[in-house]
Amino acid sequence: MTLEFHSSLRNLPNPQFVMRVTVAALALGATGPALGLSPLDTFYPPNLNQTSYISNSSIGTYGGIYKAPTNGPTGGIPYGTYDYCSMPHPRTQEYELPEPIAKGSVKGKLIYLEYLQRHQRRSPYNILPGGENQAYQCDNVRPYLYAGPSDNNIMQPMPMYAQTYQDPSNPFTPGVNGTCQYPQITIGGVQDGFQHGKDLWGVYGEKLGIIPKEPNNRVWFRSSSSALTQDSAGAVLRGVWPAYKGALPLHQMVSSVDTVNEGYSCSAISSTLNQLELTDEWNEHLTVTENLRSQLGSMLGATSSSWQTTFDHFSDNFQARLCNGYMLPCSVSNSSECVTMAMADEVFRAGDWEWNYYWRTNPYVTKYIQVVEGLFIGEIVTRLQAVQNGESSIDYSHFFIHDGDIGPILGALGINALRETDAKSDQLYARVLYSGQPVQTIHGILDWLPLSSLIDILKPYVPEDITSLCG
Ligand SMILES: *[C@@H]1O[C@H](CO)[C@@H](O)[C@H](O)[C@H]1NC(C)=O
Ligand SMILES: *[C@@H]1O[C@H](CO)[C@@H](O)[C@H](O)[C@H]1NC(C)=O
Ligand SMILES: *[C@@H]1O[C@H](CO)[C@@H](O)[C@H](O)[C@H]1NC(C)=O
Ligand SMILES: *[C@@H]1O[C@H](CO)[C@@H](O)[C@H](O)[C@H]1NC(C)=O
Repeated sequence: MTLEFHSSLRNLPNPQFVMRVTVAALALGATGPALGLSPLDTFYPPNLNQTSYISNSSIGTYGGIYKAPTNGPTGGIPYGTYDYCSMPHPRTQEYELPEPIAKGSVKGKLIYLEYLQRHQRRSPYNILPGGENQAYQCDNVRPYLYAGPSDNNIMQPMPMYAQTYQDPSNPFTPGVNGTCQYPQITIGGVQDGFQHGKDLWGVYGEKLGIIPKEPNNRVWFRSSSSALTQDSAGAVLRGVWPAYKGALPLHQMVSSVDTVNEGYSCSAISSTLNQLELTDEWNEHLTVTENLRSQLGSMLGATSSSWQTTFDHFSDNFQARLCNGYMLPCSVSNSSECVTMAMADEVFRAGDWEWNYYWRTNPYVTKYIQVVEGLFIGEIVTRLQAVQNGESSIDYSHFFIHDGDIGPILGALGINALRETDAKSDQLYARVLYSGQPVQTIHGILDWLPLSSLIDILKPYVPEDITSLCG
């Protein structure tokens, strides 16, 4: 456990810097017995390194929540429990200052907030190859899409929104009925976003004063080029500033070179992934799940390698259903053959195991994080260095990204057990919160550490020469 402070810090005017990374990323599925776990315990399954975590059905979801009604806002109960659907995040009711500040042994003030979050809940990326037995409805959400001149004094556009529909004359079928794109934010995701923003305002606006009353030139936002993350930004930032009338810039990189969401092309990403999926451990996890995969494959027409070699697609599909008020799927050809909650729980445990393997325990993990997320981690390090040098031009920065970005960042921090994601970080001194709580890592609990130490933890993951690393 790291809980450091120096007496030299006492009475410094601005000793605390916070980076909050909200990472909410892996796939889970069902409500299980709580196993006598505290909410915080549910983030750190102790035997996640072993494939017995997958096969031991009495683990259930290790206290994780994978269920939410169609409409939000939702919050895990009790507060702070691992919740794949809604991501625990800091709230005034539970927020605690770092111990040295709370005890008054040090005076400090938050001077920087770096907040990283995954998008809010959504429809699935992956439609079952055999077809979905339920339709997804999204006509209760309006994903707006229109463009106008930056000069407000001239004509402005009609606010248009996407309305997805099906035309019976189209001979092609997406394999699912309804009014959604796949993926897209759902009504519950929008409502969760409003609540998420309100909660952030309570802690970082009202209480800690780092978020200004109105957006100014010291706040900065970025998303990936995916509609999901952009739509999440609109919802969350409305929760932060309910009365603000203007529009805000959401920074994006050109998608072909984006440093989040695997934007740039780098053959070392897939070659490293191939390598780590050839290890004995990886094969062992396929062996222990052979029955499950074959049952699901024949029930749902999901026998292709993209469904059978990882649990990504099953996790995604089942989570999207359970997190938005739908049932687990049944076979389209035989409605009495359905995925059971026990099967979904095993899928979610397998997803947890894979996530932990990708970003913590595989033998190529440093390189894998470097090629997937190293440039982005480098950007964060550069911002932290600017804060350290008193040269930061922003106080509050908020990224709307993906599970696949949060995972490698938590891996770089050395998280003790990585299920799926929500993370946060503060002579500056730093703290890193993950789903609203100080993150537990191989470096200790990152509740109060010199900013320079946080930078040192992250730096090994910043590639010196990404071009040659990518091949
Ligand atoms: C299965 O998990 C339960 C609950 O965590 C534990 O008590 C039990 O020892 C585990 N069984 C095996 C065979 O690992
Ligand atoms: C989708 O809608 C079509 C047309 O109404 C219907 O024939 C089909 O059975 C539906 N599919 C599912 C999986 O509900
Ligand atoms: C449908 O599935 C049930 C449960 O597995 C099975 O008992 C039944 O025989 C199946 N029906 C058909 C027509 O295959
Ligand atoms: C799991 O593996 C990681 C990486 O090898 C290691 O740091 C961690 O201590 C292991 N956890 C347990 C509980 O063995």
